[in-house]
Amino acid sequence: MTMTEIEGIDLLAETWGRGIPHDQFDRLRREAPVCWHPEPGDTGFWAVTKHADVRRISHDWETFSSELGATFIPSQDEESMAQLSLSILNMDPPRHNRVRRLVSGAFTPRMIARLVEDIEQRAERVIDAVIDRGEAEFVSEIAGQVPVQMICEMIGLEKEEWPRMFEASNLLIGSRDDPEYAHVNPELASMEVYALCDAVAEDRRQNPRDDLMTALVEAELDGERLDNMELNLFFISLVVAGNETTRNLINLSLLALLDHPDQAQRLRDDPSLWDTGVEEMLRYGSSIHNFRRTARHDTEIRGVPVKAGDKVVMYYASANRDEDVFDDPHRFDVGRTPNDHVTFGGGGVHYCLGASLARAEIKATMRQIVDRLPDIHLTAPPDRLRSDFVNGIKRMPVAW
Ligand code: HEM
Repeated sequence: MTMTEIEGIDLLAETWGRGIPHDQFDRLRREAPVCWHPEPGDTGFWAVTKHADVRRISHDWETFSSELGATFIPSQDEESMAQLSLSILNMDPPRHNRVRRLVSGAFTPRMIARLVEDIEQRAERVIDAVIDRGEAEFVSEIAGQVPVQMICEMIGLEKEEWPRMFEASNLLIGSRDDPEYAHVNPELASMEVYALCDAVAEDRRQNPRDDLMTALVEAELDGERLDNMELNLFFISLVVAGNETTRNLINLSLLALLDHPDQAQRLRDDPSLWDTGVEEMLRYGSSIHNFRRTARHDTEIRGVPVKAGDKVVMYYASANRDEDVFDDPHRFDVGRTPNDHVTFGGGGVHYCLGASLARAEIKATMRQIVDRLPDIHLTAPPDRLRSDFVNGIKRMPVAW
């Protein structure tokens, strides 16, 4: 019989300042792959840690809803539910299909292929700007640059506004758990993003261009144009989904390569390894820890009964180290194939819309680092974000 509760497991905020608790995940996959996790002041949730279960739950939206309780772990009050339900992440089909169709055209691999040259040039300029100095704050000056530039570009923000967007997106994510951001009001940070997006939306209503914002202000959902709130929520999801995730994946990839200099050398010696190398950076880094679903009706996972209304949390970083799927899962191997990681989600209707964009950004940035800064090293330990949602690094001073 499988255990559903075990001692000594804590997957909530305090654990995460030291990085992903792989020791706990290894134990959970072995002893209690569907484990009931208490949650002080809230209902508790099922922690799901096996790859096959993450895939099944992600695909079965009819049983495991994104809409019923939204996709973050904490239970939401009515007011925040009303807001969250405007975000594509927190919708179920059929509404989800309609919203996704509005924007998916901007994110197809074909569209991203067109942007690849632009992404590579941006990555080159990022390193040009710091290379002579011999040192940098890696997170803000290197890792964060290409992702935020591409998002701002896609939204159509003017250059002067880019730093405001960068700041607001940091505050939005960090503010959930990390004491450094305890004074921050996430609503104010959201208001800042709203204000920036409203201005662009207003402009495109008057002066349409060939860009994503114009497509969105002109798009119709159920015969009606998206209102400002719907647009804003969409852009919040892009800013948060597209910035923090990719930036942190780049931070984590640097750490992986510093711990495995032989793997960096393999990439230098054989650039044809870059595609498998990026997939391995994604698997190993897993910059989003989890998303949640809510059981729509009584069901079971791996034989464990789950009641209607129960929260079910999928741990991607654990699924990515599942020994049933990956040989020697804790080894970092830039040539790993196959590599069926779930860093962009377990598939199904919510599969990451930005996956192709993120892959291109990670590859371009990491390639510049590996080829042009071969002796890069940390000058102080990385300062980790304390969050049970984003595998984040706040600051990481480096030199070369
Ligand atoms: C390494 C970088 C990234 C990671 C790890 C990541 C991770 C994820 C994951 C796990 C999901 C699935 C959510 C679920 O199943 O509930 C997701 C969805 C999404 N991602 Fe990403 N993402 C990344 C980059 C991006 C980028 C660059 C963008 C956009 C510019 C983006 C936009 C989105 C959007 C809009 C969704 C929601 C899709 C839907 O609900 O249909 N992501 N992402």
